[in-house]
Amino acid sequence: MKLYFATSNRHKYEEARRVLSEYGVELVQLTSVPKLEIQGESLADIALNAARTAYLRLGEPLIVEDAGLYIEALKGFPGPYSSYVYKTLGCRGILRLLEDEERREAYFESAVAAIIPPYEEVFVARVHGVIAAEPRGEGGFGFDPIFIPRGEARTFAEMGVEEKNRLSHRARALRMLGEWLRSRKIKRAQL
Ligand code: IMP
Repeated sequence: MKLYFATSNRHKYEEARRVLSEYGVELVQLTSVPKLEIQGESLADIALNAARTAYLRLGEPLIVEDAGLYIEALKGFPGPYSSYVYKTLGCRGILRLLEDEERREAYFESAVAAIIPPYEEVFVARVHGVIAAEPRGEGGFGFDPIFIPRGEARTFAEMGVEEKNRLSHRARALRMLGEWLRSRKIKRAQL
């Protein structure tokens, strides 16, 4: 079964492609459809709106994913503003905001919105962890070099895709989608 993923982020696409292949989904990256992101507090709302606008353009079953990093000592910042904050402050800027801060807890949240007529679903999942003292690792993207998932010593950027996929917010939300597709017995006919 074929499903489009509207994203210009090749890392996200590669992570998602691997997870959904476990459910027999052939994921196709779509970089050309503008996602039109609304401002909002909830990643689920942002992802669903973006998926609806992308669907109006494409007319084929698709998913959109929106993610954010929520840092406890910063009252959840940058959360839904993660993309902007990554571009402006980056990992170093976040570490500076947390200088002398002992509370390092944070989580990533991922919202995967799927438009598969007649269905519209959003799957939300989190991974908890801590913000590292220094950026470490060359893999992944975004805040991966400063995020250490709970129970691990390494950052996401020090892990391969398979390892990150065992733990990450995105992989968890995508597995929820995979299970949902399975339970609905959505196969080639709908996709
Ligand atoms: P987006 O709006 O879903 O693309 O994500 C917002 C920002 O959060 C991105 O620019 C990344 O910096 C960051 N982000 C989202 N997911 C991840 C991840 O899996 N690892 C590291 N950073 C991420």
